[in-house]
Amino acid sequence: MTTWNKRYAKRMDGVNSSIIRELLKLTQIPGIISFAGGLPAPEIFPTEICAEATVHLMKEQGQQALQYSTTEGYAPLRQFIADKLNKMGANLTVDNVRITSGSQQGLDLIGKIMVDPHDKILVERPSYLGALQAWQAYQADFISVPIDNDGIDVDKLEEALQSKPKFMYILPNFQNPAGVTLSLERRKKIVALSKQYDVPIIEDDPYGELRYEGEDLPPLIALDEDDSVMYLGTFSKTFAPGLRLGWVAGPESVIQKFTMAKQGADLHTSTFTQMLLYEIAKDGFLDEHRQLIRRVYKERRDIMLDSLEKHMPEGVTWTRPFGGLFLWVTLPETMQARDVFDRAIKNKVAFVPGYAFFPESDSGYTGHNSMRLNFSNAAPDKIEIGIERLGRAIRGS
Ligand SMILES: Cc1ncc(COP(=O)(O)O)c(C=O)c1O
Repeated sequence: MTTWNKRYAKRMDGVNSSIIRELLKLTQIPGIISFAGGLPAPEIFPTEICAEATVHLMKEQGQQALQYSTTEGYAPLRQFIADKLNKMGANLTVDNVRITSGSQQGLDLIGKIMVDPHDKILVERPSYLGALQAWQAYQADFISVPIDNDGIDVDKLEEALQSKPKFMYILPNFQNPAGVTLSLERRKKIVALSKQYDVPIIEDDPYGELRYEGEDLPPLIALDEDDSVMYLGTFSKTFAPGLRLGWVAGPESVIQKFTMAKQGADLHTSTFTQMLLYEIAKDGFLDEHRQLIRRVYKERRDIMLDSLEKHMPEGVTWTRPFGGLFLWVTLPETMQARDVFDRAIKNKVAFVPGYAFFPESDSGYTGHNSMRLNFSNAAPDKIEIGIERLGRAIRGS
């Protein structure tokens, strides 16, 4: 029999099965109210418009949509994305933009083109698990910098930059997992620090368009004048994740390297979904649809915040996100979110224990008493019931 396990590459040693994936299996139990995943609300997916646009696309451009296409991506869609970012203050052309198969692919390909074994990558603490996993596979070491309600702590960031990381990974809006937003002042400071220490920025912004209160803030790519930012975006949260459409935008030289890496990965992102999305987006449908998403998620966020107020015991705190899909709960120091998780599953409610979002190689910070709650997926009438169950699990029953 073939001994496969002797043949795996060294770089897979540090790659464990995702805790989230394991936990999500538990959330399949019937009757569970899940705040664990990061899923959009499927009942507002624009299925009708997709059906109509598919028929139209097949009739009008079917042969092109079903054919191989360029690694760079469908040019009209890339122009649409450049225009969208330019409205936020960036200065991009179609040549600065590449379509990816979800922004997760962008993270992986950034690892592929930039990370050598034991390179240091600076991340927020806590950070997006999918990025940590993607870069672990390239044998990265992580240094993490804490966040507070205004995003990453810029003084600690400056200290960490002394150790010369290869790049810094910043989640500016309604951060996954904690839901916090980087203030304008800190955005400007980060761009200045990037220049001062010559450390480029990977800006990951899947949630920026899902703001429920306050003013939009410029992305880092719009504040930067030195070609120091690679920006990752996605249609997963503003349209539908199943299409697997995201993008990277950045300096042309990096974008070209990126394209070579993508060619080896999948030749190109689905021609069909790129053309379908463009067909739907070109006359402004996404702007209209975004209003609906914002309305629905704001209501769910508000119900969750009110329910937490009602059902959480003394000593428990949580973030109050201005947008996005998540909030972050901190339990008293002496408590373990993992123990709460076991009781919560018995009570038929699920969440992700916070330790999943702390890089393992950056030991000492475990987030043992924190948890991430998603508020976009559960129906409004289930949210308060779920939070009441969670309150009981925290109290120990
Ligand atoms: C911060 C962040 N980046 C990237 C992704 C990946 O998104 P996708 O590959 O669907 O575009 C997610 C998904 O939840 C995310 O939260």
